[in-house]
Amino acid sequence: MSDRLPLVVANLKANLNLEDITSWLAAVGPHSKDFPGTIIFSPSYPFLAAAGQEIKKNNFNIKLASQDISKFTEGAHTGEVSASQIKDIVPYTLIGHSERRDSFRESEDDLTAKVENATDANIEPIFCVQGENTNIPQAVKIVAYEPVFAIGTNNPQDPTETVKVISKIKSRGDYLVLYGGSVSGDNAKSYVESASANGLLVGATNSLDPQNFIAILKALS
Ligand code: PGA
Repeated sequence: MSDRLPLVVANLKANLNLEDITSWLAAVGPHSKDFPGTIIFSPSYPFLAAAGQEIKKNNFNIKLASQDISKFTEGAHTGEVSASQIKDIVPYTLIGHSERRDSFRESEDDLTAKVENATDANIEPIFCVQGENTNIPQAVKIVAYEPVFAIGTNNPQDPTETVKVISKIKSRGDYLVLYGGSVSGDNAKSYVESASANGLLVGATNSLDPQNFIAILKALS
């Protein structure tokens, strides 16, 4: 992982259409040029290629991530997107978000297969964990710690608690650790400075409105 820190991920989840995403990039893109870290944009699959073209055309300092990746390699798996299909489009992928673990019953074996498929295709997994003891498959280098109570609730974890969990996760391996859960322009800096997070995973609460996301970038600049 050679990208500059902090990593700030915008996970749009199943929100926004192509027109919104074009406007989002037009609003956030100019702020990417002097951002000291790395912005990672994660819209839904159908918009990744168009977002990539827009980023390249405008020379924005924005990388792309898929919100998931198939546990299967390419083949007869209707509805799935394999790592080899998107390896030229995304340098990163989210894996193991709590919404996928809950709604799609993703098992530890599924998540391990996803990590292997991603790394085989040279896609860097951003592996989401819900606590300090969540299993982390081998080959993971970037972990996103997201306590479930803080996701989409405007109830972020107190950074004095976050720092303890992050240091426990870091003691388990040589990981970069991001914090996610109700991150905003008001609290972003405290996670990176006081809680020793190497970046932030920002979900629908403050990534959908580009101005809210820009406020987070400004707080870290
Ligand atoms: P939130 O979501 O920022 O809306 O709390 C975080 C996430 O689900 O990654």
